[in-house]
Amino acid sequence: MARLENKICLISGGASGLGEAMVRLFREEGAEVYLGDIDAARGEAIAEDCGAIFLPLDVSEEDQWVAAVERIEKDRGRLDVVVNNAGILGTGPLETIDVARWDRLFAVNVTGVMLGCKHGGMLMQRNPGGSSGSIINISSNAGILATAADCGYSATKGAVRLMTKSIAINFARRGLSIRCNSVHPGPTDTPIFEPWRSNEKASAQLDATLREMVPLGRLGQPREIAHMALYLASDDSSFSTGSEFVVDGGGTSALAGM
Ligand SMILES: NC(=O)c1ccc[n+]([C@@H]2O[C@H](COP(=O)([O-])OP(=O)(O)OC[C@H]3O[C@@H](n4cnc5c(N)ncnc54)[C@H](O)[C@@H]3O)[C@@H](O)[C@H]2O)c1
Repeated sequence: MARLENKICLISGGASGLGEAMVRLFREEGAEVYLGDIDAARGEAIAEDCGAIFLPLDVSEEDQWVAAVERIEKDRGRLDVVVNNAGILGTGPLETIDVARWDRLFAVNVTGVMLGCKHGGMLMQRNPGGSSGSIINISSNAGILATAADCGYSATKGAVRLMTKSIAINFARRGLSIRCNSVHPGPTDTPIFEPWRSNEKASAQLDATLREMVPLGRLGQPREIAHMALYLASDDSSFSTGSEFVVDGGGTSALAGM
């Protein structure tokens, strides 16, 4: 039996990379999937290809979350899974930080996740038969160990890690059956790194740098991260909440250079 049969899922940032892999895997596992993204062209094409539904969604805008969740409630009357996946890189190191970029980064990577938990969680509380659901926040292994190279990214991903625990405890203490967990991928082969692939040499250098961070010696593939989201979306993870799930080829296990 498919692992997400009859589940209604909303995946933000589903038009590329990890989000696209989740949209496709969740569809294969029987879910009804709403794909929210700012990239309507790619989002609509992927949705059409795999039978998902595209929703225009800038995760940093609360009114757009309200509209997305209202649409799902009108269509389906319930919501079972939210994956807060949309995210962007970064500010660079401390000495170069531009405050406008810092603010945008926090708006997308932190406020966007909070709003998904808030509005997704409110519909999950109204699910017929009582509250239920699973919220999956995509952090990073850079939310557990810091990089000097991107101060803002580490700060936002660390914020997602602890925000997830706060929200999980909030739901649990209020007697709600809504779980909330974070996923911490290591370097994974997605278009997020495109700005650093301006030519072949830069791209090879980037790959070498990323591989060095991974004891398994390679970048992750988006589907390898999507499988963790699938586990957390499914009832197989029913006793997990407030927890962090690392999928990083061993990156956070090794002392530097050892
Ligand atoms: N790729 C990696 O190595 C890696 C590692 C750790 C964590 N992550 C995290 O995984 C998530 C997905 O990353 P990816 O590598 O698939 O990136 P990606 O750039 O391939 O895809 C990101 C998607 O998010 C969308 N998006 C950007 N801003 C948005 C907004 N304001 N509202 C809605 N959608 C928006 C983009 O249009 C795009 O479709 C991010 O949160 C990222 O920080 C990625």
